[in-house]
Amino acid sequence: MRPVDTNADQIPLVVELSAAEFRDRLQEALAIYVAAMGYPRGTEYHRAPMWTEHVQRSGWCGVGAVVPADPSTESDAVDRLVAVAYGYRGAPEQWWHQQVRTGLRHTGWTLDRIDTILDDYFELTELHVHPDAQGHRLGETLLLRLLDRRPERGVLLSTPEVADEDNRAWRLYRRLGFTDVLRHFRFAGDNRPFAVLGRNLPLGRSLSAGL
Ligand SMILES: CC(C)(COP(=O)(O)OP(=O)(O)OC[C@H]1O[C@@H](n2cnc3c(N)ncnc32)[C@H](O)[C@@H]1OP(=O)(O)O)[C@@H](O)C(=O)NCCC(=O)NCCS
Repeated sequence: MRPVDTNADQIPLVVELSAAEFRDRLQEALAIYVAAMGYPRGTEYHRAPMWTEHVQRSGWCGVGAVVPADPSTESDAVDRLVAVAYGYRGAPEQWWHQQVRTGLRHTGWTLDRIDTILDDYFELTELHVHPDAQGHRLGETLLLRLLDRRPERGVLLSTPEVADEDNRAWRLYRRLGFTDVLRHFRFAGDNRPFAVLGRNLPLGRSLSAGL
């Protein structure tokens, strides 16, 4: 793992994860996902093959936050992963891409407009901070790190709809200038309504610049 933020006073440490490191820490990453989303135990078994396949996609990039082991307290101490995020370049053969395209068509977007948004984007696929570590801008740090120096024109993500956009994920995305692409959208096989949000890249541009 290559440290990204190396300030010794900052714990946890934000690190880039190579594909191999991500695979090695897959169970830890999935445990964070299940705890953060409040999903029933066992969900991780269904997700494991999907996350494993995602790593192979073009433009995959992953980051994590680890609490370094304290060697003075435990002889066999190991770093503890407390947050994880990844994404990759969106492409027409991907299920998520096809779902969003269908959703946009049903919403009345013209093909030109759809192509403009879907022909060059990074999909922010997962972003999760363990509940014990939430509320300290760790999610924001991971997201900024992941989107830093991306070559794509924009970034898209989906997040569950919540009343009044009142949760940390929504506040984070709005704070960083994500705007509505699709609202109350139902992905095939899932009854929950989702929002698809997006913004232009790079993030350095005006944070109010939606897609
Ligand atoms: C969404 C999630 C990744 C955000 O990560 P996080 O580290 O908890 O949150 P952030 O990085 O946005 O930090 C938020 C906190 O930083 C603080 N903060 C934010 N902006 C600040 C500022 N300008 N100055 C000072 N403090 C600030 C606030 O306490 C804020 O908490 P609040 O949103 O409740 O007010 C995380 O909460 C999570 O994993 N949630 C569950 C899973 C989930 O929803 N994932 C996304 C699915 S799409």
